[in-house]
Amino acid sequence: MSEPNVSERGYVVAHLPGDGIGPEVTAVARQCVDAVAARRGFSVEWRPVTLGAEHYLATGEVLPDPVLDELRKTDAVLLGAVGSPQVKPGVLERGLLLRLRAELDLYVNLRPSKLRAGVGGAVGKHQLSDLDLVIVRENTEGLYAGAGGTVHKGTEFESATEESLNTRAGVARCVAYAAALAARRSGRLTLVHKTNVLTHAGDLWQRTATEIAAQAGVTLDYAHVDAACLYLVDDPGRFDVIVTDNLFGDILSDLGAALTGGLGLAPSGNLNPGRTGPSVFEPVHGSAPDIAGKGLASPAGAVLSSALMLDHLGEEQAGADLDAAVSAVLAAGPPGTTAQWAQALLARLDQAVEA
Ligand code: IPM
Ligand code: MN
Repeated sequence: MSEPNVSERGYVVAHLPGDGIGPEVTAVARQCVDAVAARRGFSVEWRPVTLGAEHYLATGEVLPDPVLDELRKTDAVLLGAVGSPQVKPGVLERGLLLRLRAELDLYVNLRPSKLRAGVGGAVGKHQLSDLDLVIVRENTEGLYAGAGGTVHKGTEFESATEESLNTRAGVARCVAYAAALAARRSGRLTLVHKTNVLTHAGDLWQRTATEIAAQAGVTLDYAHVDAACLYLVDDPGRFDVIVTDNLFGDILSDLGAALTGGLGLAPSGNLNPGRTGPSVFEPVHGSAPDIAGKGLASPAGAVLSSALMLDHLGEEQAGADLDAAVSAVLAAGPPGTTAQWAQALLARLDQAVEA
């Protein structure tokens, strides 16, 4: 064997398994990352972080500042899922997930939807090549920014508002990321919005996207969000990179997941493209308490999220190995249990690098 390699690349990754199936699926993702790291000549130091519904119910803590400070010191975060029916809606969503997105400036939510061989897409008529798209979801503004409130609570005139916040800078940086991604792929970018009704925000998005797409040299198409849903089902080949606001991106990415094998397969990367701090990678699915602890969860979404993480860390080959391993396992017939998934993925990863 060779001398110990002093120049070995090393990354510190926070492992935040969370609740329900989160620990089960991220355990497999970790094993896959370690396997591919060993073969591609880098190492990962995992730092366990305990947060989520269980932790909140036991301690009352959602995201303490010292924990956030620890996360800031890492290169990336691998998150499983957080949530439980016992926790009131909003506590962990706003207090943990959205706070992480805001505090770490994770302004892009990257959500690829790719139909892979062996997967019955929900529609059943699409060619694999027609359904290989990426949704670039703005991740810190829009209706998620937290603007709005409730007044006259408990009276007949109680009123509740949620305001969609869209800043020129926030839209521009998100579109710039999407345009650069489109330039590396097909050169086609589609803005999805609802400019015929949301005329203020729509106009800002439209003007900004037009300018930035031209600067990046990519073709810009536009679709209203309702029509985009129809096209995604009927004619997804028209899309390659979609850029859209926070809520539209949330909804479209679940549709994208349904069309490409379900939420169990869908990955996401909450990116800080400026790299002023770690990015957070998580499967799109939730904690799935109904199947938690039964060994039935598919780790594919978590493994594909790890692939996005490795790619973001500059380990593109390792990321591609993980992506290819998931494709190969699916093509051979999707395993029925988490353990079978792990075994099949690790076997593939061995072959991939030896070949
Ligand atoms: C997602 C989820 C979250 C979102 C919730 C849990 C806050 O649905 O990551 O898509 O709406 O962004
Ligand atoms: Mn969602």
